[in-house]
Amino acid sequence: MPSPLAPSATDPLWWRSAVIYQIYIRSFADGNGDGVGDIAGVRSQLPYLRDLGVDAIWFTPWYPSPLADGGYDVADYRNIHPAFGDLAGAEALIQEALALGIRTIIDVVPNHISDQHEWFQAALAAGPGSPERERFWFRKGKGADGSEMPNHWVSNFQGETWTRVPDGEWYLHLFTPEQPDLNWNHPDVRREHEDVLRFWFDRGVAGVRIDSAALLIKDPALPEVPENPGPGEHPNTDRDEVHDVYRSWRAVADSYPGTRVLVGEVWMPDTKRFADYLRPDEMHTAFNFDFMARPWQAAQLRESIDSMLAAHAPVNAPSTWVLSNHDVTRPVTRYGREDSSFAFATKRFGTPTDLELGTRRARAAALLSAALPGSLYVYQGDELGLPEVDEIPLREDPMHFRSNGVDPGRDGCRVPLPWRGDAPPYGWGGTPWLPQPENWAPLTVESQQNDPTSMLSLYRAALALRRSTAALGDGDLEWIESEPDVLAFARGEDFISVTNLSDGPVGLPAHEQLLLTSEPLVDGQLPSDSTAWLRRSPITPQRKARR
Ligand code: GLC
Repeated sequence: MPSPLAPSATDPLWWRSAVIYQIYIRSFADGNGDGVGDIAGVRSQLPYLRDLGVDAIWFTPWYPSPLADGGYDVADYRNIHPAFGDLAGAEALIQEALALGIRTIIDVVPNHISDQHEWFQAALAAGPGSPERERFWFRKGKGADGSEMPNHWVSNFQGETWTRVPDGEWYLHLFTPEQPDLNWNHPDVRREHEDVLRFWFDRGVAGVRIDSAALLIKDPALPEVPENPGPGEHPNTDRDEVHDVYRSWRAVADSYPGTRVLVGEVWMPDTKRFADYLRPDEMHTAFNFDFMARPWQAAQLRESIDSMLAAHAPVNAPSTWVLSNHDVTRPVTRYGREDSSFAFATKRFGTPTDLELGTRRARAAALLSAALPGSLYVYQGDELGLPEVDEIPLREDPMHFRSNGVDPGRDGCRVPLPWRGDAPPYGWGGTPWLPQPENWAPLTVESQQNDPTSMLSLYRAALALRRSTAALGDGDLEWIESEPDVLAFARGEDFISVTNLSDGPVGLPAHEQLLLTSEPLVDGQLPSDSTAWLRRSPITPQRKARR
């Protein structure tokens, strides 16, 4: 039975409240049985996404790519990787999803391209001093024979940021050598990316997720990074001029009917500088990684919620709530560890993990984040409670290799989803590109879909309630006085969310109806590490006056 269209389907402000499901296409669903996820697989599972209750899907890069960095090394921004399908399939998918009320957001990667992209190949062929090289950061080396790197910038994937080509010049790459950085001072680079936006907006995409959005502009003098760079002083991150790029992108987006949104991947500890990206003529939203990185502690989460809402308010942008993505440790694993915060620098193999505890907390976190004001991101597989996979014999992630094997990398959160059956490949044809654990039978969609206690049922119930509760999504929050280590807040007149992060059960505030809990109540109390959603009687004018 088709479910009703999302109320957001015709709303120009849909993005302020949307639930956006992230699809890492290689690992979502396999349509042609070759062990690699593809567009056909997504098309066949659109009813699953509709029933889950999402408003939009965001695809990590699906373009032709040598996959040196999981597709973030794009060789052609206007086509689809043959392993994932073709352009006609993508166009059909966008329309089929829309017919179910689901918008499509795609990833754009402006900071760098693949070394196999025709521009970089042309730059290599044309040689030093050529106009083709000016689209990149080619430089002579230092030292008498030019054998020293032009500077000592450190890669986001550890290690060096310069690679020397046979004619002696060096080129800059903030990630891997297969991802040369573009020179955003070059008009071709700006024009090309605006054209790419139009290419996809013309095909009906509702928005773009902007990869590494704060890195585009570099100080052309390429100086060393100062010890403590002040705001805007870092030579390759968050330079003031980057905002011009997003202003012009916003103009492109705004020239289309419906609201086409810009969503930034902006990792930025300075919340004021972060919010600058969300000024009314720039991006619509950006990922709130601050909340994602916090440990499972009430004071920490509350501080993050307050500071992120305060940072968004002056620019009138909604916050986003993100528990994970294709780069970070799965929540059921992270929350089951002694240190439940997230940092790239501290990921290690063999970290002791209590998955039962982590799953319980991830359930509570799912309800907490779905109740907070703004839009919500769900990374594929989190709705199934998949853990991070530690045992992967053949890793692919350059983060792992560039750390000399110390950092496990990101393959562990990218394992193909288990759909059905008792053993790998859980509904995939052939051998999945990353091996799935033997013990995932209880985590398949098939085994969870009719179990009211499963993570999948919890997500479905939460997203349905979120959709039918006008106070959820965009709006304000009002904290309710509560016991220590309890996060209780009201949304609108009659909705309350309570998360208990303390060690014991707590009483619930007065309410008319218990809407949903992540764990059953015990003697009417909310147990440790769980969340309850409540409906209280609407606030009367008298009660309002007393507050
Ligand atoms: C972003 C992506 C990540 C990628 C990197 C380089 O952080 O999320 O997966 O490796 O950018 O493009």
